Amino acid sequence: MGIFYDEKNRTFKLDTPNTSYLMGVQDDFGYLLHYYYGPRLRGTDASYLARTDEPPYTPARNGRDKLSFLDAAPFEYPTGGTGDFRTHCLEVRTAAGHNAVELAYRRHSIQKGKRPLPGLPATFGGELDCTALTVTLADDVLGLEVDLEYTVFEDVDAITRSALIRNTGAKEPALYLTKVLSACLDMDDRDFELLTLHGSWARERVIQRRPLAVGRQGVFSERGETSHQAQPFLALLTPGTTQTQGQVWAMHLVWSGNFEAQAEADQFGQVRAVLGVSPWNFCWKLAAGESFQAPEAVLVYSHQGLGGMTRTLHDLYRGHLLRGPWKDKKRPVLLNSWEGAYFDFDTEKLLAMAKSGAALGMEMFVLDDGWFGDRRDDNRALGDWYVNEKKLPGGLKRLADELNAMGMKFGLWMEPEMISPDSDLYRAHPDWAIQISGRTAGLCRNQYILDLTRREVLEYVWGRVEAILTSANIEYVKWDMNRQLSDLGSLGLTSDRQGELSCRYVMAVYELQERFCKRFPNVLLENCSGGGARYDPGMLYYSPQIWCSDDTDAIERLAIQEGTALLYPLSTMGAHVSACPNHAVGRTTPMDTRGHVALAGTFGYELDPRKLTEEEREQIPDQIALYHRFNALLRTGDYYRLASYRENHTWDCWQVVSRDRRTALVTYVQVLASANRHSRRVLLQGLDPAANYRLEGTDRVFGGDTLLHGGLPLEPLWGDFRSKQLVLLMED
Ligand code: DGJ
Repeated sequence: MGIFYDEKNRTFKLDTPNTSYLMGVQDDFGYLLHYYYGPRLRGTDASYLARTDEPPYTPARNGRDKLSFLDAAPFEYPTGGTGDFRTHCLEVRTAAGHNAVELAYRRHSIQKGKRPLPGLPATFGGELDCTALTVTLADDVLGLEVDLEYTVFEDVDAITRSALIRNTGAKEPALYLTKVLSACLDMDDRDFELLTLHGSWARERVIQRRPLAVGRQGVFSERGETSHQAQPFLALLTPGTTQTQGQVWAMHLVWSGNFEAQAEADQFGQVRAVLGVSPWNFCWKLAAGESFQAPEAVLVYSHQGLGGMTRTLHDLYRGHLLRGPWKDKKRPVLLNSWEGAYFDFDTEKLLAMAKSGAALGMEMFVLDDGWFGDRRDDNRALGDWYVNEKKLPGGLKRLADELNAMGMKFGLWMEPEMISPDSDLYRAHPDWAIQISGRTAGLCRNQYILDLTRREVLEYVWGRVEAILTSANIEYVKWDMNRQLSDLGSLGLTSDRQGELSCRYVMAVYELQERFCKRFPNVLLENCSGGGARYDPGMLYYSPQIWCSDDTDAIERLAIQEGTALLYPLSTMGAHVSACPNHAVGRTTPMDTRGHVALAGTFGYELDPRKLTEEEREQIPDQIALYHRFNALLRTGDYYRLASYRENHTWDCWQVVSRDRRTALVTYVQVLASANRHSRRVLLQGLDPAANYRLEGTDRVFGGDTLLHGGLPLEPLWGDFRSKQLVLLMED
């Protein structure tokens, strides 16, 4: 495994355990062309796949003109303005107002290990487990260089890539980057389907598949965050791809702001997929000697359907993206105050809730919104990060100490990036909000966004975060962000740099969170953005878990968690049991179903335990025991999606198998009951076909091969919204 350069053919070959990726330098001009991405190949001679000898391609060889070539050749990093009329990765505006870019190969280097991307989250790996390639391309007319960086990992079938753009200063004192994407995949169309994830507040990451049509299509965010509405991801699937079969090419961006993920099917039956920071309102000035680092894109090829892609992404993120001591540890069972108390609390009430929860086995109390300044409701006080002593006499310290005394840890909610117009902070610094001079900025949840691109603002915010975190024994932080970016103007940026604001904002958030991780390495950080509007690989680099959605209804969560788990490890997926009728949809579901669904994620409670029925309370210790029993399995095991309520409108089923294949946990939810039905025979996955498995609680033993190919009958349950868990244990 690793990266090879075949000098004779001028071909680069990147190998992961089961895949190969090939590209090479085309003779005449030095274009870097993409040859192949798919199952592992033996050789490196794949340059013929670029078909540069075929008309209408090569101008030098067959007299056809250059534009025909540029508009059809498979480029590794296509540029705009010189004749490739498909979507492309790089656009540059010169001082003279021109936009043409044309890149040719200059040099390359291959090294063991992976360099971090300055200021950006990225996957990591050491000299023993990954190899990196840098290919430098240049446009000598512009004095512009592009470093394309690739990494392959020894232990996972993923490739990462990114681009660094440099103004050498040889030709232009300043270049303006108007589009810098991170990755491109040029392929032939195979009647692809396009898979993307979309949603809204409380309906995040719902899977959508559609036939790929000629033209451009995809998803994007221009909201300043990756958003509830879209995920920075796309996958191309061969027809009929299922969880277990079919070919999948996937791209995922390690980034938390505006993005575009597009696929374009062209006039010649080719497809170009691109992914990167959205060019919308993007203009980055590169003075001589300066460079711009585009975020990292993750590429995965799977010939084992969507399930293969999912498990590769899970392994990559668990092994090479998540950081800190909590990523491999069981997290405390938390009780969050939000749905149980909203803004209506004082210390006595919180302690009473916590005491009631502790008696049932809950381990950490998280105080959500409402503890600071004059925060009576969500219309005010963001930015005033001083404890409201009227609500919490003795401050956070007293609360934390009393919780600790009852054996509970203490966690706290903050929304450090925001400023309410009705706040002392805004009254003192109205210019600190992102805004355009002379235009009244729009409010969203009655708040503005702090302009973190200004040093003094970032330092102020960091100062308050640090002061709060050191004021009491706080062992967990929920870092929230509850609005989208609009009215993009920074009073700290010159006019020629206003187009950098959205990107710089995200980078400033990364800087704050990096400081947080360094200063408070043992504090468990959970990111959140009005539910899951910033659930992306970028934020995962800082927090090992992210709040999945404000919709905590167990049935609504089925599609949300299915979409989330398609890409992200279960250990990252913030999921809580909440009270019924559910606060988002008014539905009442059985307590055990709520528990089973939340167990697929980080698990915790979001309610006032004192207000539960006795019957509900009685079930909590057993639920928590399940969490303790299965957490290691769910955190480290292989995830298989067996049935989708989103697709079949009746029931949902998933399975997690331990890495040693000795234990399998199957969870199913029967959403709607129907009369006179047989059991559902579900084909299990991931088991050892040569082993036998006992169904726990029975004396029934099944062959692994029989469960894989014949299946396991799941009995119909009595009533709607019912669920059941089955455990299969390998016999010695
Ligand atoms: C949005 C989050 O998603 C909720 O869980 C809660 O923390 C509220 N914000 C508080 O304002």
